[in-house]
Amino acid sequence: MAAEVTELGYVTLGVSNLAAWEEYASQVLGLEVRPGEDEKTRYLRMDYWHHRIKLVENPADDLLVMGLRLAGVLEFREMADRLKAAGVDVRIGSREEAEARHVLEVMFVTDPNGFAIELFHGPLVQYDLPFHPGRRMHGGFKTAGGGFGHMMLNRRAGFEELHAFYSLLGMRGGIEYKIAIPGMPENVELMFLHCNTRQHTLAFGEPSEKTVNHLMFEVERLEDVGLTHDLVRLAQLPVIIEPGSHSNDHNFSFYFKNPSGFMNEIGWGGRAPTGQSEYYQRDAYGHSPIFENMKGFMVPA
Ligand SMILES: [Fe+2]
Repeated sequence: MAAEVTELGYVTLGVSNLAAWEEYASQVLGLEVRPGEDEKTRYLRMDYWHHRIKLVENPADDLLVMGLRLAGVLEFREMADRLKAAGVDVRIGSREEAEARHVLEVMFVTDPNGFAIELFHGPLVQYDLPFHPGRRMHGGFKTAGGGFGHMMLNRRAGFEELHAFYSLLGMRGGIEYKIAIPGMPENVELMFLHCNTRQHTLAFGEPSEKTVNHLMFEVERLEDVGLTHDLVRLAQLPVIIEPGSHSNDHNFSFYFKNPSGFMNEIGWGGRAPTGQSEYYQRDAYGHSPIFENMKGFMVPA
């Protein structure tokens, strides 16, 4: 297997209110909250992995790290060599650094935006510890083969530079939306990258204060999109984008604001990448922005 990123494996989020996040993650999202290594950290699970999200008490209220997976030790070595040959600064993590992340090996790089990436292989998978949702669910989270979801980041670099870097990591994709956004003089272009059966794993939108625009999870059953929508309303969290269907990944989804002020998207029914580039000017249906809740957000795709 050629060395290429295989999935979005984990993220670290810096959150200012850990208690609010614990409540939100378990009671609204349905994630399993596990103790961290100290009072300022928690782990969130959604499948057999040790964790998919690490919460760190931190005023950033933002993405701190994205963990991108490689298949194994050969791919790890090949990727390190390729990145170094391309002039990318790579630091191979120590055994202790890998163990602290519950992976076999990790290396540290920075993307052209300046965002921290941990390329790793060998996550700790706990078949002895089945996922236990934080609240009732109709089904589970869809993670097999596609990583734990996707993320849209607010880019600071140009599309060409980003495309070149992520191509080195083995990801493919490009501009998939040219979309009119109220208040913006021209159509906004959005770039989407994939590496597995999930139509996109990373997306890049307009520059903004935070690193992350939204973090998306896919559920196995449509009923769980509806249930989450009810719970978001009950918790009086602002819905930013009403339910609807994306033209690119075909997910039926909606967007809402989490306690850190960026968005989560919950979706169902996503398709695989089509294998050839195409672009869209609008979504299939729905996904109307709720303008009074939209301050600070562009229309995400
Ligand atoms: Fe999304």
